[in-house]
Amino acid sequence: MIKDRKVSFSGIQPSGNITLGNYVGALRNWPSYQDDYDCVYCVVDEHAITVRQDPAKLRHHALELYAQLIACGIDPEKSILFIQSHVPAHAELAWVLNCFTMFGELSRMTQFKEKSARHADNINAGLFTYPSLMAADILLYQTDIVPVGEDQRQHVELTRDIAQRFNGVYGDVFTLPEAVIPTVGARVMSLQEPDKKMSKSAENENSYILVMDTPDAIMRKFKRAITDSDATVRKSPDKPGVSNLIDIYCAATGMTVEEVERQFEGKGYGEFKPAVGEAVVEFLRPVREETERLMADKGELERLYRQGAEKAAAVAARTLTKVHKKLGFLPR
Ligand code: TRP
Repeated sequence: MIKDRKVSFSGIQPSGNITLGNYVGALRNWPSYQDDYDCVYCVVDEHAITVRQDPAKLRHHALELYAQLIACGIDPEKSILFIQSHVPAHAELAWVLNCFTMFGELSRMTQFKEKSARHADNINAGLFTYPSLMAADILLYQTDIVPVGEDQRQHVELTRDIAQRFNGVYGDVFTLPEAVIPTVGARVMSLQEPDKKMSKSAENENSYILVMDTPDAIMRKFKRAITDSDATVRKSPDKPGVSNLIDIYCAATGMTVEEVERQFEGKGYGEFKPAVGEAVVEFLRPVREETERLMADKGELERLYRQGAEKAAAVAARTLTKVHKKLGFLPR
């Protein structure tokens, strides 16, 4: 395939609400790839069902996530923004790639080991072959780069290995993708247990901020955030609570750590915590309000996701047809 620009592919699971951590660490940076790459963004609902989902919630989360991606700055006209299950080529190529993925390789995946420990009552084959479907997502679009978090590096490496194995037998069918892992951007930690990553699966809802949280909820959660006994606003490894709040304040305002420390010199947490809350409210406001506006017009969202699926299907079909032909399947 002759490409003018390199291709970037991003996938995100509609498994629940997006946290401040997801936004700062991943989503916020995604739109910028549109300047330099042909971008494909996919809501991976087929991956989500590897653990049990409530149908009504899954439907809501998938649509809301679709809207949130637009609200974050992804342009559905310029890029391809679609829902995985709307493009059957993903499941079709995943089957083929299953036959080029080794049992041993899948057994070594850290995410499989973790998830099968967490969902011991439902260690299904889909959970095991999850990486073959992810490889299909990536390889269908002749992807050059995959912006992901460190936890997904292993899956992208496996995708490369699968692609190389296939190419080794059938010639250059797939572009070899590379993981791009952001080095900058603070890791947002839990507001209650600042030694852990902020996660929406935490039991205490005061430990995470959701992009869709109301301003009141955000203010309340920051006021209850765990800080440290020494009441100065200073970043330090032995002060994980306040260090996390400083990082969040920096992410929300664009200030440096030094500037924040100077601004709150001689002031206590009583002043700092509400200031962080207010900064985060303003930081998230545009995304939340735009998502709400989009969610109020379901017809327009449906038009956009149908158009996205059509664009995706056209690109995916080219790769899948080539793969089927190479394998020796009779033409349809
Ligand atoms: N496995 C990814 C995650 O859990 C989601 C994902 C599915 C993905 N397919 C992808 C990410 C393709 C990048 C490319 O975060």
